[in-house]
Amino acid sequence: MRAGLAITAIAAGFAGTAWAQQAAAQGDARHGKAISYTCLGCHGIDGYKNAYPMYSVPKLEGQNPDYLAAALHGYRDGDRAHVTMHSQASELTDQDILDIAAYFAGKPLTATGKAQGSVPQAAALCVSCHGQDGVAIAPMYPSLAGQHQDYLVRAIDEYRKGGRKNPVMKGFAASLKDEDVAVIAQYFSRLTPALSTESRPYTRLTAH
Ligand code: HEC
Ligand code: HEC
Repeated sequence: MRAGLAITAIAAGFAGTAWAQQAAAQGDARHGKAISYTCLGCHGIDGYKNAYPMYSVPKLEGQNPDYLAAALHGYRDGDRAHVTMHSQASELTDQDILDIAAYFAGKPLTATGKAQGSVPQAAALCVSCHGQDGVAIAPMYPSLAGQHQDYLVRAIDEYRKGGRKNPVMKGFAASLKDEDVAVIAQYFSRLTPALSTESRPYTRLTAH
């Protein structure tokens, strides 16, 4: 009897996971596009920078939608410290987050499964999740291929200094020296297929 209950509970747990994954895949990109106009003011401009400190706004196109949704939850719920992104994300419902993630991801990068040149020693462990070619091996991990080099340095620093609280990345980042971070950021930023800046559907000149 007890064993039976336990098995039912485990099965329900798996069903719950499957449902969550399905839900993540079900973002409505059309609605995401409709509500993300302000986002493109930063994410849709090539080379746009965050000020104080100065670093590039991350590229989102080609990223995994599950990861984009997790990142937005992080800003909204305080696991990531960034004032502008916190206020942007606090306006969004859970469904808005799924929809925006689906829109911004577009067609997520496809892994080539091959390393490009030799993986630097400092990145040897990182590629087990972020991929030999910088394309993440699972949808909840971010792809790093082609991401801005200065943004990668900033992101790793945030895990090291506690501005980002994700326990997995905090652990991996903690032991890195500044020289390692520089090598890692350079390596991933040069890989292809690469993430890209969102194309901006309207500009002040074309919008009616
Ligand atoms: C004023 C500029 C600005 C605006 C507007 C803005 N963002 Fe951001 N966004 C940033 C910056 C800068 C970061 C990196 C923050 C950090 O250091 O963690 C970021 C990070 C992100 C990330 C995490 C990317 C990653 O690789 O982890 C996502 C997802 C995101 N923004 C989505 C959005 C969405 C959706 C909107 C609109 C609702 C939006 N942003 C509006 C500047 C902006
Ligand atoms: C066990 C899998 C795993 C390993 C190994 C791993 N990461 Fe991560 N990484 C993650 C996850 C999960 C996230 C998203 C965390 C979050 O929500 O902030 C992440 C996020 C990141 C980000 C932020 C990307 C962005 O767009 O903001 C960078 C940069 C990064 N990892 C670099 C590294 C480096 C460098 C190493 C090796 C020292 C490494 N990772 C090892 C799983 C991993």
